[in-house]
Amino acid sequence: MSGFPEVRPRRLRTSAAVRRLVAETTLEPRQLVLPLFVREGAREPIAIKSMPGVVQHTRDTARKAIAEAAQLGLGGVMLFGIPSVKDETGSGALDPEGILNVAIEDAVSEAGDALLVMSDLCLDEFTSHGHCGVLDAAGRVDNDATLAIYAEMGVAHASAGAHVVGPSGMMDGQVGAVRTALDAAGFVDTVILAYAVKYASAFFGPFREAVDSSLTGDRNTYQQDNANSREAIREVDLDIAEGADMVMVKPALAYLDIIRQVRDHVNVPVAAYNISGEYAMVEAAAANGWIDRDRAIMETLTAIRRAGADTILTYWATETAQTLNHR
Ligand code: PBG
Repeated sequence: MSGFPEVRPRRLRTSAAVRRLVAETTLEPRQLVLPLFVREGAREPIAIKSMPGVVQHTRDTARKAIAEAAQLGLGGVMLFGIPSVKDETGSGALDPEGILNVAIEDAVSEAGDALLVMSDLCLDEFTSHGHCGVLDAAGRVDNDATLAIYAEMGVAHASAGAHVVGPSGMMDGQVGAVRTALDAAGFVDTVILAYAVKYASAFFGPFREAVDSSLTGDRNTYQQDNANSREAIREVDLDIAEGADMVMVKPALAYLDIIRQVRDHVNVPVAAYNISGEYAMVEAAAANGWIDRDRAIMETLTAIRRAGADTILTYWATETAQTLNHR
């Protein structure tokens, strides 16, 4: 049977040149956003053990990381603050001198227009109980009381100069509450990147260490059940109706099907957050010599892009941009 098989897909894989020509998915520095943790009062960066290579920054080292991110052409940075004092209502979140608000100011002055300064708009880093909202008398997360605080927090971030705020607490109505408050305060151009789809996930584990969280229990009453996908579409529809400019799916790797469904459903940009536990898994396996770290990172980020994410939040953003810029 000469000439068989007639069709040979391998032909388009025979050299690096042909593989490059036909690659369907792109990965570029502008598509990557670097999450940064900034710790109040820190004099030295503090290592996060469960996220090797990631630190709680001082204000000064955060500035340096942002300058580097800008120079490499990253799309943005996503800022998290770790206050030295946490309380029941997370009051450090609203204080203009609070760590996240000053870190936003630092970032904007460092980055100028070179990249977008984004802020995680949530209370869990600031509350003594570690929940994303305030608690009612029975100890349950009080949705509507939390919305009032998110609204103020959004204005605080915008006043500090944030280009993009990211409501991430999974309270019902959070995007509408923040949009209304921003508009009333004159911040009509502040972008909302809604953490629209957020699943209660074991993969958030290392993040708890990253922000010194005191959470006991879980977030199952506000974050989504991972058995559900139609619910994700409902959340996205609501957030867009409430004024979200962009939507996010989180975590990413165990939810690639959700990223694809959301991408096919909406006409706004879609982001995905390659979260702490997903980072830790690759780092831990690589440290044991069980997988090739560099390949695993590229494969991971390409998969998230291929699933449909326009933007990826990843702790590997800086090093990936370096790799991409030297190709
Ligand atoms: C909420 C928030 C969390 C993350 C980003 N924003 C924690 C949570 O929702 O439980 C997790 C990010 C990661 O795990 O890398 N402030």
